[in-house]
Amino acid sequence: MTYKIYNPLATIGTPAPNSPASVKAGLDLKNRTYFVTGGARGLGLNLICAILEVGGSAIAFDLLPEPVSKEWSAAKALAEENGGSLTFNQLNVSNEAEVEELLPKLAEQAASAGRPIHGLVNCAGVNQALPAIDYPLDLYRKIVDINFIGSFVMAKHTAKVLVAANVPGSIVLIGSMSGSIANRGLANTAYNTSKAGVLQLARSLCQEWGQYGIRVNTISPGYIITNMTQSLLDVEPELYDTWMRGAMLNRLATPDDFKSAVVFLLGDGSRFMTGSDLLIDGGHCAGA
Ligand SMILES: NC(=O)c1ccc[n+]([C@@H]2O[C@H](COP(=O)([O-])OP(=O)(O)OC[C@H]3O[C@@H](n4cnc5c(N)ncnc54)[C@H](O)[C@@H]3O)[C@@H](O)[C@H]2O)c1
Repeated sequence: MTYKIYNPLATIGTPAPNSPASVKAGLDLKNRTYFVTGGARGLGLNLICAILEVGGSAIAFDLLPEPVSKEWSAAKALAEENGGSLTFNQLNVSNEAEVEELLPKLAEQAASAGRPIHGLVNCAGVNQALPAIDYPLDLYRKIVDINFIGSFVMAKHTAKVLVAANVPGSIVLIGSMSGSIANRGLANTAYNTSKAGVLQLARSLCQEWGQYGIRVNTISPGYIITNMTQSLLDVEPELYDTWMRGAMLNRLATPDDFKSAVVFLLGDGSRFMTGSDLLIDGGHCAGA
């Protein structure tokens, strides 16, 4: 048996691939297109705006038939202003046949427009908080299917596109602080375990795909005010006080608290970062 011996000295002084010329260049997404799921509203649509602001382009996907109109119009205007492009497709992230059919087609269109696919932001997700002792199995499977299997399906077919085009790319999976902790006062077992799977998925994929120049990282947000948290608060308004007790900055997050982080992870400035989790929770997990 022969072993390939890794010699760290051999790499000293070798420029990294895509080494950005400046900090600004490391955050520049010009002429790059990213798939963004959960892009019809909430965090996903805000992250699309972040990509567009730095000159990138986005192809949004969502289970909803169309995006929230006012915010979408603002995002379209941003695309125009910054020389990017923005389109929307309805897609179920956990339906592999749909994903497999659509992604290569859209990637071809992006490449012929001179803005090839450079990665993915997987933001689609669902939650339903119910006590585990009564949690219906079909609902548990649905949460895991969308949050965890959907992340894998999207990452897998994005990687296929990147490898086929020989483009080093960046994949960002939106996890949650709930993938690493149990939320005090919230019966959230299905969601928490699905998000724990997302974090381990990224670490495992980074181990396999580094050879193609594909980086895979996660962002773990704390509580953000979106439709998802609002629906939890509608059922249990007292949760707000529980959440605020862990809020070290004395507020919950808004979706734009994550914009700079996603640009950093997609851009070449983070080119030595893979298999990592960016916890952005306003200090929540730092408290006991
Ligand atoms: N809101 C929070 O406090 C919070 C905290 C941590 C992590 N997150 C994560 O952030 C992401 C965005 O959530 P949000 O808070 O903006 O909620 P949201 O409900 O506004 O957005 C989620 C989007 O995903 C879409 N979606 C659901 N199932 C889908 C499927 N099968 N295929 C395609 N799209 C699908 C929904 O239609 C929706 O537009 C989720 O992954 C969520 O788990 C949210």
